[in-house]
Amino acid sequence: MDLQHQVVWVVGASTGIGAALARELQARGAKVAITARSEQRLQEVSGGAMLSLAADVTDPAALDRVAERITAELGPVDILLMTAADPRPMDVTRWDRDAFAEVVNVSLVGASNAIGAVLPDMLRRRAGTIVGFIAPVAYRGFPAQEAYGAAKAGLRNLLEALDVDARPHGIRVTTVSPVGVRSFAGRSLPGIPQTIDPDTAARAVCDGLERERGEIAFPGRLATPVKLTRLAPRALWPVLAQRISRRP
Ligand SMILES: NC(=O)c1ccc[n+]([C@@H]2O[C@H](COP(=O)([O-])OP(=O)(O)OC[C@H]3O[C@@H](n4cnc5c(N)ncnc54)[C@H](OP(=O)(O)O)[C@@H]3O)[C@@H](O)[C@H]2O)c1
Repeated sequence: MDLQHQVVWVVGASTGIGAALARELQARGAKVAITARSEQRLQEVSGGAMLSLAADVTDPAALDRVAERITAELGPVDILLMTAADPRPMDVTRWDRDAFAEVVNVSLVGASNAIGAVLPDMLRRRAGTIVGFIAPVAYRGFPAQEAYGAAKAGLRNLLEALDVDARPHGIRVTTVSPVGVRSFAGRSLPGIPQTIDPDTAARAVCDGLERERGEIAFPGRLATPVKLTRLAPRALWPVLAQRISRRP
């Protein structure tokens, strides 16, 4: 896929990977719209060259309005990239039901809200690409990741099922699985070294999109070990997870 002239909507683009992705997409000739809660940070990312529209992913009506604005000003959305997430850890000694619900609402329900804003039009046009961002916590339960992990495991499954159902309608679904990118969400899992800067991550995502990959995982040397955690026996996992998380 040639990214030039594609209308791309990055949801969660005020910081980190989403911000770098917006800049990289623009450098590759895409028409870029960006969304997050912080209007000021969005404008800094945009530099006046992108359509920046503040919206909270937990508000489906607000996302519908953003999709309408993008369609009116740039054209129908060709690629939706959903990076918005809340990686807040849980504390098992002070279980916070509200925090759990908020994390899942942003990181999982928020993705459904964004998908719902573009899917009817993509179905009509029989074209489009939907991209979601998962994490190592999508594969196994890590310490303090009960909420973020549940949301990302759910998102992994949502994207897989959507790929099955949307593909016959001409819609592509891509799962991005980053590990160790230097940003806020990257700090959520102790023990995983943050070796990648957001610009490198953004280039990896754009290269994967150009090659029409269903799965984009980076860095390559960690992608397979992350998936292999699924093979560890359930009985051994509590010890293994603590050991991985305590690595310096
Ligand atoms: N960094 C890593 O190593 C790593 C590893 C695995 C997976 N990931 C995944 O990759 C994606 C990007 O990660 P990142 O590290 O770049 O994250 P980040 O720096 O924390 O950025 C998250 C973005 O989401 C936006 N956001 C948060 N809550 C929102 C809400 N309610 N409504 C709208 N926007 C919201 C934030 O902007 P506002 O605060 O302005 O709303 C921000 O732009 C996430 O899905 C993360 O789970 C990252």
